[in-house]
Amino acid sequence: MTPIARWLLGALVFAAPGVVALAAFAAAGDIGGRWTLFAALALYLAVLLLARPLILGVAAVQAAVDRMAAGEAATSDVETLSPTVRELWLAVGRWARASRQKLAAREAELASTQAVLTALPDPLILLDERRRIVRANLAANELLGMRLVDRDLAVALRHPAVLAAADAVLRGEEARIVEFDITTPVERHLSARLAALRPHTAEEAAAVLTLHDLTAAKRSERLRADFVANASHELRTPLASLIGFIETLRGPAHDDGTARDHFLAIMAEQSQRMKRLVDDLLSLSRIEMNEHRPPTERIDLGGVLRTVADLLGQRAEARDMRIVLDLPRGACEVLGDADELAQVFQNLLDNAIKYSRPGTPIEVTTRPSPRFLMGARPGERPAAIAVMVRDHGDGIPREHLPRLTERFYRVDAARSRELGGTGLGLAIVKHIVNHHRGALDIDSELGEGSIFTVHLPMP
Ligand SMILES: Nc1ncnc2c1ncn2[C@@H]1O[C@H](COP(=O)(O)OP(=O)(O)OP(=O)(O)O)[C@@H](O)[C@H]1O
Ligand SMILES: [Mg+2]
Repeated sequence: MTPIARWLLGALVFAAPGVVALAAFAAAGDIGGRWTLFAALALYLAVLLLARPLILGVAAVQAAVDRMAAGEAATSDVETLSPTVRELWLAVGRWARASRQKLAAREAELASTQAVLTALPDPLILLDERRRIVRANLAANELLGMRLVDRDLAVALRHPAVLAAADAVLRGEEARIVEFDITTPVERHLSARLAALRPHTAEEAAAVLTLHDLTAAKRSERLRADFVANASHELRTPLASLIGFIETLRGPAHDDGTARDHFLAIMAEQSQRMKRLVDDLLSLSRIEMNEHRPPTERIDLGGVLRTVADLLGQRAEARDMRIVLDLPRGACEVLGDADELAQVFQNLLDNAIKYSRPGTPIEVTTRPSPRFLMGARPGERPAAIAVMVRDHGDGIPREHLPRLTERFYRVDAARSRELGGTGLGLAIVKHIVNHHRGALDIDSELGEGSIFTVHLPMP
């Protein structure tokens, strides 16, 4: 109904009781018919005039509220409104402002909740009652390598145990935890926790699925178990031989002087081997304990390299080998721990002497490092120096290179043991280099030899 029609009709309703009263007077003969008609008309016109601001004002307020509901700006000319309607309009305005503020607060709250979900480091997925993904955070999209929203969970995670758990939770059963492996985009061991959401969220999410990456934990658990097994095995072998010889010396060889000397020599060698192993294990654990605190002392790398080369010179000569040092003229300073770095180059030169061909040289050279190292402080990128230890031996087959720095890993275990090796030398090198925030590169060419390059940060 248009505002005018509403005004005319409204005035008629307001005037109705007066008109009825006039009609009653006319019926009783108190007033004449013509006067009644005239009075009724006058009454209607008066009501029309008096009710105009009220009825048209209310219609204007209604139109303004409708426009507000439709999202338009709420405007009304307050000056033209009657006092009663103006009060009504101002009250509507106050209510609208209060609801806008409440809405803005809700929206801010929702936005911050969404920001928290997005930034959560662990993957999080919300499912509706039909197992469709209604929300997934950044970590979830990255882990599963796709945009997840609107897909069925089965498309994102094909694991039957996870899907069964999701179905059970959506049927109203208790929260569940499932461990499983995925192979794409990369191999990972994950744990999924599924729980129902009551009440459902605004986007109709009925269950929440959180994923926890257990890959690193599983790997370190396996490494630790392997390490204990390997270390016990390495210790048991010389120990078994010591026990065997002690029994022989107490029994059959008790009075045999020549045999006794021979066995004692082997026993001394085996005990030395055990001592080396224990020493190496201890220094490895000491380095690991300090690994988070990089050294900050300036030391002269040239001095360290010369001392180590002198120390191992005789052993090299015994195999008709020469250690050739090619160092910069002036002092060559790095940020480091002199004892640890001496150990690094001692282990590398020791390997070169042991595994390279007799009669060949071992070259130690330095040059500016092309690698970008991480500094002792976050974000720091210090200049670095590269020290290369190069031998001309048989080289190492390519497939072994990535595993050489693992504890007890050897290319030829029998040969290493025969040469008195513990298989920990390169693991120690790797940890010391890590402690220095440096890097280790291993290159090898079969038949040509190997190059071990240590990159170290300069002050
Ligand atoms: N310069 C090299 N040339 C050829 N093979 C090497 C060389 N350096 C290391 N290797 C191989 O890598 C393996 C691991 O070396 P690593 O120094 O860790 O142990 P190791 O020499 O056997 O024992 P340790 O150093 O504890 O006495 C060696 O067993 C050897 O097979
Ligand atoms: Mg070694």
